[in-house]
Amino acid sequence: MTSRSVAKPVGSKLEQLHVGVIGVGRMGACHARNLAGRIPGARLVALADPDAAARERLRAELGVPFGYDDFRELVHRDDVDAVVIATPVEIREEIVRECVAAGKHIFSEKPVAADLATTRRIRRLLSGAGVKYQLGFMRRFDPGYAYAYEQIQGGRIGQPVLIRLTSRDASGPPVSYVRTSGGLFVDSSVHDFDLARWLMGDEVASVFALGGRFVYHDYAAAGDIDTGVVALHFRRGGLGLHDNSRHSGYGYDIRTEILGTEGAIQVGYLESRPVVVLQDGRVGHDTVADFLERFRDAYLAEMQHFVDCLHRGEEPAVGVEDGERSLEIALAALASLRTGQPQPVPVPGDPDTLERAGGDGQEVA
Ligand SMILES: NC(=O)c1ccc[n+]([C@@H]2O[C@H](COP(=O)([O-])OP(=O)(O)OC[C@H]3O[C@@H](n4cnc5c(N)ncnc54)[C@H](O)[C@@H]3O)[C@@H](O)[C@H]2O)c1
Repeated sequence: MTSRSVAKPVGSKLEQLHVGVIGVGRMGACHARNLAGRIPGARLVALADPDAAARERLRAELGVPFGYDDFRELVHRDDVDAVVIATPVEIREEIVRECVAAGKHIFSEKPVAADLATTRRIRRLLSGAGVKYQLGFMRRFDPGYAYAYEQIQGGRIGQPVLIRLTSRDASGPPVSYVRTSGGLFVDSSVHDFDLARWLMGDEVASVFALGGRFVYHDYAAAGDIDTGVVALHFRRGGLGLHDNSRHSGYGYDIRTEILGTEGAIQVGYLESRPVVVLQDGRVGHDTVADFLERFRDAYLAEMQHFVDCLHRGEEPAVGVEDGERSLEIALAALASLRTGQPQPVPVPGDPDTLERAGGDGQEVA
């Protein structure tokens, strides 16, 4: 049995939580920049990434004291209280295992893992480990989505009955990223599936998916699609429609509408700046570039929540179970895409539905 260190309690509110970031790509750099001065109660002390040039550039930019090729050296530093994992998904389990053994709290980028077997192993690793774990479903911390959630909880639109969720990237990632990402539904739609569960206040019972490759034909080599739609059927009868595309041709576009028995709420916007140009019989505005711009406030708020939870000794609001549920929906959507048939989503703790949904160890192509 692995011996475990006990996670260090973070003392008074004035004490700084010492954080290390593993992986300094798009997301890791964003979290590192936030932690280096924008998150009261936290101090960024180390970066780990085998890409030494990128790591040292960021370390110099932010004045981070320590940098490592090997994440283990960061995890085992005595002065590191918590770790942000922003690496490609396939090495998550190894990093979580190391963090649990060292008693380090974890903020992990989504998804928890690319397949259910690994996700469930990670959940079991964390269970009773004494370390806190937050998953990077940042949309829940976006001011618009947080407000919509409060309104729905307060009964403003009555009983939610239908959710429509659109996600479009301006342009797609290279096939090298796609190959290890888990695919469109696992890599990207998990955010929408999490929103769907959270905003509808219900679990998804079954899904039906369609998809195709229209722009990035090279994704065929990774067994992935660039555009997909998923119909959702919730356990209490509610309905959902999700569409996702890696290429919008105009900008980054995340919009959600929840229809209730007494009204609807729409979340999302297209303009980056609140400026409209009216000229020559035309009306125009710019668009949001990417997730880093659209969810800038949400990335900051989710990290502040993580740090605050550690200071207060509270569980973060979004954890490994939320990641597991969303991945179950994503994998059911993938199974539906492949079989052309509707697919059930497993009911937690029910072995029958788990088996019907493809078992415990369903792998992504
Ligand atoms: N929440 C969001 O909005 C959001 C957006 C994009 C990506 N993500 C997630 O964030 C994660 C990272 O995605 P990204 O776009 O930043 O990828 P990226 O390719 O830009 O960065 C990954 C980084 O991890 C580094 N890395 C690889 N192996 C490593 C190791 N063994 N130890 C330490 N570092 C290692 C790479 O060198 C690279 O710098 C993915 O899981 C992705 O799903 C989340």
